[in-house]
Amino acid sequence: MQVIVLASQKGGSGKTTLSGHLAVEAQRGDKVVVCVDTDAQGGLTDWWNARNLETPALSTAGTGGLKALLEKLAKAQVDYVVIDTPGQVSAEAQATIRLADIVVIPVMPSPHDLRAVGKTVDTVVDTGRPMLFVVNRATQRARLTSEAAVVLSQHGTVAPVTIHSRTDFAASMIDGRTTNEIDPTGKSAAEVRELWAYILKRLDMEKRSAAAT
Ligand SMILES: Nc1ncnc2c1ncn2[C@@H]1O[C@H](COP(=O)(O)OP(=O)(O)OP(=O)(O)O)[C@@H](O)[C@H]1O
Ligand SMILES: [Mg+2]
Repeated sequence: MQVIVLASQKGGSGKTTLSGHLAVEAQRGDKVVVCVDTDAQGGLTDWWNARNLETPALSTAGTGGLKALLEKLAKAQVDYVVIDTPGQVSAEAQATIRLADIVVIPVMPSPHDLRAVGKTVDTVVDTGRPMLFVVNRATQRARLTSEAAVVLSQHGTVAPVTIHSRTDFAASMIDGRTTNEIDPTGKSAAEVRELWAYILKRLDMEKRSAAAT
């Protein structure tokens, strides 16, 4: 089982949107996926409730805590767990990050968001967990997007796929679907597919390098 945690100190960068999208995408090939919403705001839970579909399942940590939940899910042969975290990286969120096989950090390509990324990076680096930046909500202003990728690359790996700003991403979160479920042939669906494929590649690389040490 592998655990993907979406985190960022910056509110509104797309953690919840990408959590839902990646969880649905991760099911490809009959994989068993569970989402966990650790944000008291409950955005992922609201999306899941609007879905009216059983998969991917939604689980809560409950009184036993997240670690115990993950142990239970691993025993139940779950393939991937996708965890959404709050807009503020608290001590609790850092404890969640510690349990990640990869930490996906969505970042909007704006100067303000890029300046704020250092805080998130510090929190993740202290856990020693591998991180991956994803430029999200990019507009067609390619210059700002490529500048963002350059700034982010100074901190760590940047996903080679950019998620653009499109209304179908926002709409999907309201009606409980994903862009792929709305239009599998659309550009948004293609970007999410590519992003998940890249995350799988990173997870595999991390596994191999851990095995080699
Ligand atoms: N690629 C995108 N294109 C268009 N809208 C997007 C995209 N990604 C996210 N959004 C919209 O941006 C807003 C913030 O996204 P989201 O709730 O996923 O961010 P978040 O990081 O979870 O925020 P918070 O820190 O408050 O939990 C939402 O209204 C969402 O619909
Ligand atoms: Mg959120």
